[in-house]
Amino acid sequence: SPSDPDLVERARAAKEKLGDKVFVLGHHYQRDEVIQFADVTGDSFKLARDAAARPEAEYIVFCGVHFMAESADILTGDDQKVVLPDLAAGCSMADMATAEQVAECWDVLTEAGIADVTVPVSYMNSSADIKAFTGKHGGTICTSSNARRALDWAFEQGEKVLFLPDQHLGRNTAVRDMGMSLQDCVVYNPHKPNGGLTADELRAARMILWRGHCSVHGRFSLDSVNDVRERIPGVNVLVHPECRHEVVAAADYVGSTEYIIKTLEAAPAGSKWAIGTELNLVRRLANRFAPEGKEIVFLDKTVCFCSTMNRIDLPHLVWALESLADGKLVNRIEVDPETEAFAKLALERMLALP
Ligand code: 13P
Ligand code: SF4
Repeated sequence: SPSDPDLVERARAAKEKLGDKVFVLGHHYQRDEVIQFADVTGDSFKLARDAAARPEAEYIVFCGVHFMAESADILTGDDQKVVLPDLAAGCSMADMATAEQVAECWDVLTEAGIADVTVPVSYMNSSADIKAFTGKHGGTICTSSNARRALDWAFEQGEKVLFLPDQHLGRNTAVRDMGMSLQDCVVYNPHKPNGGLTADELRAARMILWRGHCSVHGRFSLDSVNDVRERIPGVNVLVHPECRHEVVAAADYVGSTEYIIKTLEAAPAGSKWAIGTELNLVRRLANRFAPEGKEIVFLDKTVCFCSTMNRIDLPHLVWALESLADGKLVNRIEVDPETEAFAKLALERMLALP
């Protein structure tokens, strides 16, 4: 627990013993008790970029979820070992697209005669297999902070985009940021034959959205937005683009976790904010900015942690750091070389976006 001084001291001591050999990365959704030990914090994009910032570190301890640790492994040297303190820290959204399902989808697009003109764009929140598929078929990875630029790039390469696996980020970017219509988007359901779509529907679409979503952000509704506007007059509604389209359409500001933090840093004293993203981050921001007179509330009334992000707790971090300090490599995340090569291609296309 955050108040367990013994665990805090053990983490500090193990980190000190490891010195430059360890580099700890922490996603903004991590618990306070964990994030205090991160050398670098960030959104998915910043962490992917920063993972390679310490080539001399033998161990990269990733306080985040599995797909982030995989991406860090792909983007760092072969002699650097990426460690995920709890192997059960997955992401339910990433699990919604398997390699078999995506290969089958590509067959459906081929059958409809559109695979040649379709560019895959995969959200960072996907397995290394899906990233490799994306790289192999000329596509790019994106995060919530560069989805617009990734789609602009993709539409220069082809006529259509297959967006994996978050339908909401895909739809919100296409419709809110790029002026497409909802009719330009179709949803491919991997649990239905042909994705539940006719060949004509596929041919008419510009955005083919995979039927995946984030269960945490999916909890926010239009009612949450309307309720908070009624409760707190003058409130600014700021949400993550993984929220449903009607929530994003009703919000004042939309962006990644890093954008949310930057926006609140720049906000004037006395301003009021309702935030639609994971609760560890919102609580931390509410506490941080309260002394500056910025009122920050959670967009919904129900508690909304990401349960898998929360699996990385102080006991797991202490265990990982102490094991490494004792020379014992634990919970290594290692992507196989062939997958890594193609996934890296897709990640590097993202890192090269203007
Ligand atoms: P960002 O931190 O990139 O905004 O992503 C949020 C998220 O859901 C990560 O899983
Ligand atoms: Fe996955 Fe949603 Fe958790 Fe992010 S918040 S890790 S998308 S389940």
